[in-house]
Amino acid sequence: MRIRPVSAVTSALLGLSVLLLAVPQARAAAPAARTASQVRTPLVIGHRGAPRRAPENTLASVDEAAGLGITWVENDVQRTKDGALIVMHDTTLERTTDAGRRYPGRAPWRIADFTLAEIRKLDAGSWYDRRFAGERVPTLRSYLQRVDRNRQKLLLEVKAPELYPGIERQLAGELQRAGWLDARHVRNALVVQSFSAPSLKAFHRVRPEVKTGFLGAPKASELRSYAAFADQINPPHRGVTAAWVRSVHAVRGPHGRRLEVSAWTVDNGDRAVELARMGVDGIISNAPQEIEEALENATDEEETEDDGALSILGFLGL
Ligand code: G3P
Ligand code: CA
Repeated sequence: MRIRPVSAVTSALLGLSVLLLAVPQARAAAPAARTASQVRTPLVIGHRGAPRRAPENTLASVDEAAGLGITWVENDVQRTKDGALIVMHDTTLERTTDAGRRYPGRAPWRIADFTLAEIRKLDAGSWYDRRFAGERVPTLRSYLQRVDRNRQKLLLEVKAPELYPGIERQLAGELQRAGWLDARHVRNALVVQSFSAPSLKAFHRVRPEVKTGFLGAPKASELRSYAAFADQINPPHRGVTAAWVRSVHAVRGPHGRRLEVSAWTVDNGDRAVELARMGVDGIISNAPQEIEEALENATDEEETEDDGALSILGFLGL
């Protein structure tokens, strides 16, 4: 699937044909309208799974995303008091589980203050909808197995690594044991990202072959320093401009390829199309299916416009 950048050629082609300007140039421009002016449509990544349809960061959310045909999912990884890696966004348990009711008196219910056995008892689904009652907080191991079983791919966020010293080496070990550091996963099924540059650097030192993403929007002048350890620069979508995306793409990352951009969290189809036209490589969304549809519709419309423009040129014998 492909989508054109903003300044694409349809209107120019129509203008040229209607005004009968510069016939030789128009002839040369027509084939280029289909190829050189087009860019790849971004990957759409389910933010915490499919959180508009199932409780975030649960196996149910991953399954829901799979059912929608969403291949890439994003999650957040943290560590329990007794050292288990689990999948949850907040650093406390209260919002997305029944920890407040089950463990009164243990406020603020920090993940790091609870053992895995305690967290396993929590209901991570009822807060969202009764249909998901009994859904559990997944361990990273069970999450990786489910993503694999669904033939999905993972944008794994190391959340709040400053709370969990050494989590980068531990994560690498867990990924290794789960079979996620083989060639297939490393080549095209795994990206590890974080808001913390030191954490990302630490992970890159331990497993340099794994793709990494820095969460943030460094200035163009700072990009080269991030490129030493990050393959992606993943910004909040609001400040993204085409010029900034170009400046990111102009830098090569630790694996010798141009840096990529995945913008978050984009739940509006029109905005997703704008970002696609700016050339972003990925869009992280709470509504991944809707975003995929918006991108697809934009592509279809542009192809129809192109067909129309090319027919007019053909009719005019250009
Ligand atoms: O993947 C980007 C996004 O997840 C970062 O923000 O707070 O949702 O983890 P947050
Ligand atoms: Ca996240």
